[in-house]
Amino acid sequence: MKNFWQKFKKPILALAPMAGITDSAFRQICKKYGADIVYSEMVSIDGLHYNSAKTFDLIKFNKKEKPIVIQLFGSKPELFAKAAKEVEKIGADGVDINFGCPAPKIYKNMGGVRLMRDLDLCYKIIKATCLATNIPVSIKIRAAINLPQGKVTAMDLVKKVGKLPISAIMIHGRSYEQGFGGKIDFKAIKSVKKAFKGIVLGNGGIFTPEKAKEMIEKTGVDGIGLAQGILGKLWLFKQIKDYLDFGKYREFDMAKIKTVALKHTELCYKLKGAVGILEMRKHLGWYLKGFENASKIRRKLMVADSLKQIKDILNSEL
Ligand SMILES: Cc1cc2nc3c(=O)[nH]c(=O)nc-3n(C[C@H](O)[C@H](O)[C@H](O)COP(=O)(O)O)c2cc1C
Repeated sequence: MKNFWQKFKKPILALAPMAGITDSAFRQICKKYGADIVYSEMVSIDGLHYNSAKTFDLIKFNKKEKPIVIQLFGSKPELFAKAAKEVEKIGADGVDINFGCPAPKIYKNMGGVRLMRDLDLCYKIIKATCLATNIPVSIKIRAAINLPQGKVTAMDLVKKVGKLPISAIMIHGRSYEQGFGGKIDFKAIKSVKKAFKGIVLGNGGIFTPEKAKEMIEKTGVDGIGLAQGILGKLWLFKQIKDYLDFGKYREFDMAKIKTVALKHTELCYKLKGAVGILEMRKHLGWYLKGFENASKIRRKLMVADSLKQIKDILNSEL
């Protein structure tokens, strides 16, 4: 098995999966600014099974994004196996299984973090996926899920599945109940790093190079996964690398941010057409965060519906 995970210089900087955000355009720009590895948005194994064109669109990627991991969600071992074969067929470097998503729609259907309540099922899913494919299989998990019927921790899951040939674990240091905010449980991440022989990536709350360093130092992980911290700041990867290598990093000025925002918009439009322009609105809002006049510019951008209009607004206002 080609295990690309072992080839990286550490610490590994990964783009964590974000549904509705980490599409091909986003991933390509993150790669340009220092991401070592990118994860796709989560992709439904049922959608792939039923040949949904929309789901198949989600697993498309450009060679520039490699190495790329496609993340799958669902609950049926046999469909994970089938989907993993599909992911291997299209040339992705790795396949990841989502054991962390708390979204009600996924949770109610037994997927995402809900799976952590059924460790036997987790085992069956990972085993079926590993047996079905020759590309490395990784998992993304949460620190814990606390339920009236008892608590299940990341360590419980790792103990249950640790002997399966899993290549990497990304652990989000928050519980199911915490959602996407609140304190990161460094102890939980550190325990997983100690117990698991493969690559461990720590995830959660990394918004600055200083926070990245803190996560690495406090937990001893092999790398980190970035999510909300890079929204509107896709160059955070480069800043983290500079900080870890040289102890300092540069902030991007308005001219550089404008260049990234325009490039991102052009690429998104090229890949998705008019829909891409609508999807860019949220990203442009994030790029403008902290700018003088941001709310005025944002209001104009929120009604722009062509590439030309967006370019005109950014060129005249920034
Ligand atoms: C909008 C959004 C979408 C997300 N989608 C996914 C997903 O598809 N799969 C997944 O495993 N995690 C997903 N996550 C969780 C992130 O990968 C990450 O674990 C979480 O945001 C914590 O990291 P952070 O504090 O750096 O944001 C998503 C998070 C956000 C904010």
